[in-house]
Amino acid sequence: MTAASQTVSRAAVVCGVGAALPPHIVTNADLTARLDTTDEWIRSRTGITQRHVARADLSTTDLAVRAAAQAIADGQPVTVEALVVATTTPDRCCPATAPAVATRLGLTGIPAYDLAAGCTGFLYALATAAGFIAAGTVRTVLVVGADRLATLPAPEDRTTVPLFGDGAGAVVLRHGSAGEAGALGPLVLGSDGTGAGLIRAFRPGALHMDGADVFRHAVDRMSTASRQAATAAGWDVTDIDRLAPHQANSRITSFVARQLGVPDDRRLGNVGDVGNTGAASIPLLLARSAADGRLKPGHRTLLTAFGAGLTWGATTLTWPDLPLTPLPEGAGHDR
Ligand code: UT7
Repeated sequence: MTAASQTVSRAAVVCGVGAALPPHIVTNADLTARLDTTDEWIRSRTGITQRHVARADLSTTDLAVRAAAQAIADGQPVTVEALVVATTTPDRCCPATAPAVATRLGLTGIPAYDLAAGCTGFLYALATAAGFIAAGTVRTVLVVGADRLATLPAPEDRTTVPLFGDGAGAVVLRHGSAGEAGALGPLVLGSDGTGAGLIRAFRPGALHMDGADVFRHAVDRMSTASRQAATAAGWDVTDIDRLAPHQANSRITSFVARQLGVPDDRRLGNVGDVGNTGAASIPLLLARSAADGRLKPGHRTLLTAFGAGLTWGATTLTWPDLPLTPLPEGAGHDR
């Protein structure tokens, strides 16, 4: 094999996608019964009408296993050789979530580790997985984003409780060629620790967030990273068929689409039904959008995220043709 063809065969290609949501739903009406807030305030400021919340018997590991199992079952048949779990809410400090997830999937023995980069964690995990594949270390990597962000706010904090939900999403990456559908484009990633205080939680139930500042940074960073990723992929940003932004808030994603000049009907969204699910947000959105037909094979798709750290990122792919089964929990599409 020549050096050039080796490079080509080591692109990371999405070949499976899956998602998992806890069955328990908390509606805005549930929140207005116990917090000084209104359905109108929550919907108009965030676009959120409900969120899925895990009860104590459903862990981050459980959600990760469910999403991962679906990504493996619904993908092209491959043998998973490594696992990365992106999460800010692991079940414990030590050991990491990923080895337990691997074992429950029957994958004991493979390299498996966690990665924390806030709501950008999934894109950071894609980058490390793509690096493993490019280096020839492994040929396939399972990448999971799983979070229980609903555990972070203080239960009485009306400014943060309405925003967050729990869930997991996963993709399987295999080695392939840069030109094929599903191949990840260049990854643009960044961080800025001077903004560390804007979103912080030293333990569950103690989240602090400067909402308005976070909002401004999120729009700026996601717009800039998106342009850079599109340019690096050789795309004109206006050629994008689908924008798949981290689901923090529909006003944020709407501003990003507007700044990029992407028509609003190309912006994927499900924050209304699931809230902000952190590292799970993008793979959950991809899985559900592919299942409900809003994301179709051949769509030029741009992924972008922003989160605590501060961290941000973006990448591109042309959506592949995957053998999907209908998702178990039905959440409609709302942008
Ligand atoms: O992945 C990144 C994670 N974080 C985010 O994406 C969050 C980004 N930020 C946001 O989404 C928005 O800043 C929020 C939705 C959090 C807040 O919207 P906002 O338009 O920036 O509102 P604000 O923070 O400026 O607050 C406006 C008012 C305040 O009252 P005063 O001081 O004007 O009297 C708040 O106390 O709204 C009040 N408020 C509420 N009122 C009713 C805050 N939360 C609520 C609530 N219900 N739940």
